[in-house]
Amino acid sequence: MLNYALILAAGEGKRMKSETPKVLHKVCGKEMVNQVIDTIRKSGIMDINVVIGRGAEKVKKATESRGVHYSFQDKQLGTGHAVMCSSEFLEGKKGTVAVFTGDAPLISQESISKLIEFHNEGGCKATILTSVVDCADGYGRIIRKESGEVCRIVEHKDCSGSELLVREINSGMYCFDIENLLESLGKLSNDNSQGEYYLTDVIGILVEEGKKVGAMPIPFEETMGVNSRLQLSQAEKVLRKRINEKHMVNGVTLIDPESTYIDVDVEIGSDTIIYPGNIIEGNTVIGGKCMLYPGSRISSSVIESEVTIQNSVILSSRIGEKTTVGPYAYVRPDSVIGKSARIGDFVEIKKSVIGDGTKVSHLTYIGDAEIGKNCNFGCGTVVVNYDGTNKTKTIVGDNSFIGCNTNLISPVKVNEDTYIAAGSTITEDVPAGSLAIARARQVIKEGWVYRKNSKKINKED
Ligand code: UD1
Ligand code: CA
Repeated sequence: MLNYALILAAGEGKRMKSETPKVLHKVCGKEMVNQVIDTIRKSGIMDINVVIGRGAEKVKKATESRGVHYSFQDKQLGTGHAVMCSSEFLEGKKGTVAVFTGDAPLISQESISKLIEFHNEGGCKATILTSVVDCADGYGRIIRKESGEVCRIVEHKDCSGSELLVREINSGMYCFDIENLLESLGKLSNDNSQGEYYLTDVIGILVEEGKKVGAMPIPFEETMGVNSRLQLSQAEKVLRKRINEKHMVNGVTLIDPESTYIDVDVEIGSDTIIYPGNIIEGNTVIGGKCMLYPGSRISSSVIESEVTIQNSVILSSRIGEKTTVGPYAYVRPDSVIGKSARIGDFVEIKKSVIGDGTKVSHLTYIGDAEIGKNCNFGCGTVVVNYDGTNKTKTIVGDNSFIGCNTNLISPVKVNEDTYIAAGSTITEDVPAGSLAIARARQVIKEGWVYRKNSKKINKED
């Protein structure tokens, strides 16, 4: 049977106090709505419709790459109205639609699969995903008959005194039989404390019509919704723990998981050891047997195996096998560092290729350059890639030795097997195999200081 999914993401999220639409706030590096989309896809549902409204353009742009459908909800008249806005997507379809909210990012693919199985095998017309919690504040309550069957959902703001005591909450996630859902939506009213068309009222309508409605409780860790910044940080904490545990199960050592921040799509090979205070972002891939000493931020990069990094920032770049980086290195976007290379302390690399075995050990800037293999950059080398108007390229061939405190004024080409004397300012290409010296010759004035001092002493007399 074909399954479909709806994600309600048109609300404003007033309680976030933000210019960013609520569903675009990130947990562990990914927008909540994208987290929901990706999890739904992993559970096997491919046909997904997202209801957008507030900040529609932004939400559309952020979700574009995922190939979902969209419905537009002009005015936010409630979750039931949001589903009505999807009727074009649902019309003519048969079977089950699973409904999610864009602000509940912790649902797992396993629970989605179980919910659909529970719903379909139980022959239900609607199934609610629920949780039993200690504090149900803000959530709709699941009201059951004495027999235990679901009767209806009552929103927190509409609860009577005894209903407020109910600890089983509505997660805002459901499965519906499409035809039954569409039929019930037409019967919704907005006669409630918020003057909204509640999707939750569909449950009571179906029960009254004698249709079978089920409820499947799962842990609150998967159903908690995000309405405020406080809840955003709580959701982040739950997801972070889940991510870190997954990596540890896969053979990664995290010295202190609570202070290791790994985004949801990061991949890490086994026997890599990660010290506290590392932030690993985006779709970074880290190989096996790496040592990530404390304090680095690695974003959308590929780190091959057996790499050592400490206290550095690496952005959208690639670091080759067995290379060491840092402490205090800054590798900026579009850099490719070779294998067994060294990028040492206070070195900045920008949009450059550094060959295998090349060592740039200290206090050096390399920008817009192509550096060959097995080169050695002395301390304090600067690639002068910007003349105030244009950025130009520098090329250094294999096996070159760049003496300390050299300036390479680009555009310039230093061919292979060359030797640049310390303190040189290189403005012209250097042919292969040669030594370049580009600095003033040393002058010695013997006895100059003594003569000067003796004049001074005479004056003081
Ligand atoms: C909703 C449920 C509540 C449940 C809780 C779980 C209703 C009436 N209440 O309450 O029972 O316990 O979720 O987290 O459904 N949205 C729209 N259009 C609208 C209104 C909302 O698209 O007109 C979207 C929002 O963007 C959001 C989701 O629906 O992603 C839920 O809306 P929200 O206002 O957060 O509902 P809750 O008050 O949390
Ligand atoms: Ca909510």
